[in-house]
Amino acid sequence: MSNGCHKPSVSRRSFLAGAGVAATGVALVGEVHAAVTGDAPTVYGPGSVPLTLTVNGKARTVSIEPQVTLAELLRDQLDLTGTKIGCDRGACSACTVWLDGAPVASCMLLAVDVGSRAITTIEGLATGETLHPVQEAFIAHDAMQCGYCTPGMVMSSAALLQRIPQPTPEDIHAAISGHVCRCGTYPHIVEAVQAASMARKA
Ligand code: FES
Ligand code: FES
Repeated sequence: MSNGCHKPSVSRRSFLAGAGVAATGVALVGEVHAAVTGDAPTVYGPGSVPLTLTVNGKARTVSIEPQVTLAELLRDQLDLTGTKIGCDRGACSACTVWLDGAPVASCMLLAVDVGSRAITTIEGLATGETLHPVQEAFIAHDAMQCGYCTPGMVMSSAALLQRIPQPTPEDIHAAISGHVCRCGTYPHIVEAVQAASMARKA
């Protein structure tokens, strides 16, 4: 089962090596395209590159090296530390954010590859001082202990309710199946998501 995040079982080293191969492929495609059209291929780096991303509804302009992941950018440059880095290799989903409303593992995505897609982090889920119903339900149902997995769990759970407003327990299990909670709060999380869906229905 999967929460929709792309989480191949590869090491960070092989991921970055793969990204390099992919980048080479893109460069070759770009060169073929350039040969046909006369357009210059897109080449990033080796130094910092300017980038403007849409984060929680606001345009944010940064200067980053091409190997920086979205998770690193959010935490280290934009000070959005609600997004956690657990495994840093696509295996725990602690780093889950939304891209155009869909949950993704931000440690597995290079920031330069985000493009024009809208990024939503846990900091962008509430509306002003009003928490998202899933956030409210996690508090009410004691669905966190250390809280390290919580932002990612909330992002995937909230995305589920956007997609399936009245999910079954099986839907909820599937949505959070890629998330690791070392504190074992899974039963409370399922209760919280069910409660949030009922609150939205009411
Ligand atoms: S999946 Fe990204 S930190 Fe574990
Ligand atoms: S609440 Fe501690 S890891 Fe989930």
